[in-house]
Amino acid sequence: MRRPVEPPAPAELRFRRMRPEDLPRVVEIEKDGFRHPWSRDLLERELSHAWSTVLLALEDHPGLRQGPGERAEEVVGFIVFWLVHDEVHVLNLATAREERRRGIGRALMEEAAEAGRRRGATLVTLEVRRSNHAAIALYRALGYRQVGVRPNYYAEEGEDAIVMVLDL
Ligand SMILES: CC(C)(COP(=O)(O)OP(=O)(O)OC[C@H]1O[C@@H](n2cnc3c(N)ncnc32)[C@H](O)[C@@H]1OP(=O)(O)O)[C@@H](O)C(=O)NCCC(=O)NCCS
Repeated sequence: MRRPVEPPAPAELRFRRMRPEDLPRVVEIEKDGFRHPWSRDLLERELSHAWSTVLLALEDHPGLRQGPGERAEEVVGFIVFWLVHDEVHVLNLATAREERRRGIGRALMEEAAEAGRRRGATLVTLEVRRSNHAAIALYRALGYRQVGVRPNYYAEEGEDAIVMVLDL
């Protein structure tokens, strides 16, 4: 039997820091990814913190119009992480809904870990909702281990956070 056609792996992914003009697309991905999304202001504020990085994953998008010398590219995911002392803390991660299960989330997590490693970090930490099976599966696949639970961390629903750590 023939296998169903799978979406192409993101071999052509590029990464760069978010700029103010990227905010509308990042807000769109954020709103589509979370029941309680970060606001535009909150995302924008990250740009002003020296310790914060908002890293975008971009891909060529043949359907987009292109000016001379410009690349037709689209933001397909992003990650927000802080580097404080020897720790990378991941605060936010999302892949555009139509681009999921193509390795973009994994690639963003690996970029953040690598950025931390280059700057002397020794661990990555994060909190994730207990019910977020997709994200937990991703972190486990990357070697993260559960080190604790913060009860009722997500106050809106009284949901616990699982605390996960990766040693770099
Ligand atoms: C979690 C999220 C970022 C994953 O992004 P993604 O680009 O789809 O992830 P990847 O394609 O890199 O997945 C890598 C691995 O993670 C695991 N994984 C990812 N999504 C999964 C799912 N829905 N179910 C089970 N495992 C999953 C798998 O092991 C997968 O490898 P495989 O596709 O070879 O089986 C994405 O689902 C998302 O944006 N969700 C909404 C926002 C969110 O919950 N962010 C996390 C907040 S802590």
